[in-house]
Amino acid sequence: MSNKELVAIHAARQVKDGMLVGLGTGSTADLFIVELARRIVEENLKITAVSSSIISLCKAQQLAIPTVSIEQLTRLDLYVDGADEVSPDNTLLKGQGSDLVREKLLARASDQFIVLVDQSKMVDRIGERFPIPVEVMPFAWQMVQQGLEKLGGKGDLRKAGNGLAVSSYGSLVLDVAFQANKSCDEMDFILNSMPGVVEHGIFRNLADNVLMAVDGVVQEILTKH
Ligand code: A5P
Repeated sequence: MSNKELVAIHAARQVKDGMLVGLGTGSTADLFIVELARRIVEENLKITAVSSSIISLCKAQQLAIPTVSIEQLTRLDLYVDGADEVSPDNTLLKGQGSDLVREKLLARASDQFIVLVDQSKMVDRIGERFPIPVEVMPFAWQMVQQGLEKLGGKGDLRKAGNGLAVSSYGSLVLDVAFQANKSCDEMDFILNSMPGVVEHGIFRNLADNVLMAVDGVVQEILTKH
């Protein structure tokens, strides 16, 4: 069994009858969704799920996991998702799947947010391996791009296939690289205060638990109570 499967199964064990569960996006979250579907069938587990993206919604539907739409809820019990980077203070970088606003809403509204990673996601600083995904209103992308450039962030629109990446609510995504001397706090502040930005991929103080498996052993990197 791979390390990714191990953390996915570990997280799926935390799911109890009656829970409202957020489904993340990506290869690790997919393994969690598969294990959840197995428990629903084989253990008669009764849950309702909400997806963080169209991709995870389709995955849930293919596996017959009962879902509700995000519009129908104000809170959830548990959200399980991957991440693209995790820094030593447990700040996350997310958003390679493009649906940032949904991911951050679920992370914020959930009683518990469990993050599933492998060793390759551990970085010294946010932005080390990936640019920061920034979800923008389509009519504002050029203003945001120029505004960020004046503050030290260079970015371009994310492409998908022959076109542009578009979130499930019609936003575009700018992938923005800041100079390495910009702190995470500075980047977070800049992006939070830029008009036209819907959401961005820096997730601070949101993870309750970060799970990583190394050589077949699951480690809890962060436990927030
Ligand atoms: C989705 O937008 C991201 O935040 C994902 O959580 C991320 O891309 C993780 O994907 P993997 O589990 O495939 O690395």
